[in-house]
Amino acid sequence: MKKFFILALSSLMIFSLTACGNSNMANSASPPKQTAATVTDKDTAPNAKTTEDKTANSKGKKILVTYFSHSGNTKRVAEQIHNLVGGDMIEIKTVVPYPTDYNECVEVAKKEKETNARPKLSTKVDNMAGYDVIFVGYPIWWTAPMPIYTFLESYDLSGKTVIPFCTSYSGDIAKSMDAIKSLCPNANILEGLTANDASKIEPWLSRIGMR
Ligand SMILES: Cc1cc2nc3c(=O)[nH]c(=O)nc-3n(C[C@H](O)[C@H](O)[C@H](O)COP(=O)(O)O)c2cc1C
Repeated sequence: MKKFFILALSSLMIFSLTACGNSNMANSASPPKQTAATVTDKDTAPNAKTTEDKTANSKGKKILVTYFSHSGNTKRVAEQIHNLVGGDMIEIKTVVPYPTDYNECVEVAKKEKETNARPKLSTKVDNMAGYDVIFVGYPIWWTAPMPIYTFLESYDLSGKTVIPFCTSYSGDIAKSMDAIKSLCPNANILEGLTANDASKIEPWLSRIGMR
């Protein structure tokens, strides 16, 4: 009987110690594990993605955003692109400004197109050789406006990446892509964007690897 009592007491002690040990493990090991996982998912992962995006965006390339704009639409798009990709930005300006009146401007621009004119520019990019990627923005004037012809012919863009974008009433950038290709035949010309809808800018930049 005494033997049985000792045996029963020992079993009870062993059971209590084991149960206590398991409970301690659950309380001490699990919570830190949980905390670490939460920090990683919530904080570290998004930050890592942001850093990666920025690196992919610059990729060590020097970016220049250029644009010609008569009434401000293309200028606004250029500014949005510049905000998203960084780099430098420069406006392409003509020595003789176009009439502000729409119909008068159409007359001048039409004549320039018919005569294949090269309007003189007051804009000069001194260090074009230092850029790898050149965004070129313009309004659709049937195709690209003639100041864009002058601009692109003024530089050797061989081996550079040229990225056209435009605004218009309804015309698509496709109307001007042949001209752009012939004006910088040795450049790597990426997909252009008709940027009348601002929500298309960021997805386009991602598509062409600039974000
Ligand atoms: C001379 C001239 C020609 C134009 N030709 C076209 C055209 O062929 N197709 C079109 O959709 N819009 C045409 N437009 C409209 C412009 O492309 C549009 O208003 C553009 O957003 C203006 O950009 P900006 O404000 O940067 O000058 C023309 C405008 C002008 C002044």
